[in-house]
Amino acid sequence: MSKPLENKLALVTGSSRGIGAAIAIRLAAEGADVIVNYAASPNRAKAVVSQITNAGGHAEAVAADLSTIEGTKALVASIDKVFGGKFGGRLDILVNNAGMVKFGPFLESPDDFYDKHFNLNVRSLITLSKDAAKRMIKTGWGRIINIGSCHGEAAAFPGVTMYVATKFAVRGFTRALSRELGPTGVTVNNVQPGAVDTELSPDDNGPAAQAMKKLMSVGRYGRPEEIASAVSFLASPDSAFINGESLTVDGGWNA
Ligand SMILES: NC(=O)c1ccc[n+]([C@@H]2O[C@H](COP(=O)([O-])OP(=O)(O)OC[C@H]3O[C@@H](n4cnc5c(N)ncnc54)[C@H](OP(=O)(O)O)[C@@H]3O)[C@@H](O)[C@H]2O)c1
Repeated sequence: MSKPLENKLALVTGSSRGIGAAIAIRLAAEGADVIVNYAASPNRAKAVVSQITNAGGHAEAVAADLSTIEGTKALVASIDKVFGGKFGGRLDILVNNAGMVKFGPFLESPDDFYDKHFNLNVRSLITLSKDAAKRMIKTGWGRIINIGSCHGEAAAFPGVTMYVATKFAVRGFTRALSRELGPTGVTVNNVQPGAVDTELSPDDNGPAAQAMKKLMSVGRYGRPEEIASAVSFLASPDSAFINGESLTVDGGWNA
């Protein structure tokens, strides 16, 4: 039986672990060939690729530090070469997942706080979306899926001010770009996870984790796979009429 994403090329940024890894594995299970991007963890990226190929899927790991303009350009260039060039420069699905957060009071934040957050969480996402959209428009079909955050909907938790600013930017960019691309067959959507059990989140047993769990009516951290299933739907042909949407998958954080 054919799979919904067969013969589609997907790029998932920051997919050596956490939510990105779960998304890469899920899209590959749906039939997509997947570029597994990472910056600092080649062994973890290789493990994700192995998991996909052992299950009969197709994946390649590509190193690129998306906090830099050079790294972002290198990742764009890799799209033409992956899988032996069999996609001829086409890209069908872009999942802008790579992101970072530093916790702490804004008034005590270092001078590079803005650059660190915005270069990765916003600039790389915008640059990659521009390149991806041009490739997708040529075929008349494409999915750009940004990974925002429950912190992009409301500032419900203190100590993440700069992160909140980036994730509001992701939501605004998603909506604006969806208007421009709507007539082209390319949709742009935003998945906003609640607190998920990954290395980015505060330690599961600490006070910050307990406070976050109280904000979520389900009373627990989400699992990366629970975010991947929402991304899988938005990547599928079934989601063609959803555009500019921010889908909260947050255990009730923003209810
Ligand atoms: N976890 C949560 O509670 C939560 C909640 C809401 C939204 N989100 C969002 O979900 C996304 C993924 O979060 P996560 O929890 O899975 O994070 P994570 O566990 O910290 O994983 C981050 C991923 O991004 C990659 N990465 C980090 N810096 C990078 C860079 N400069 N260039 C390229 N890749 C880079 C990492 O790879 P390397 O280690 O190889 O660099 C890793 O694969 C982020 O956008 C985050 O804001 C997370």
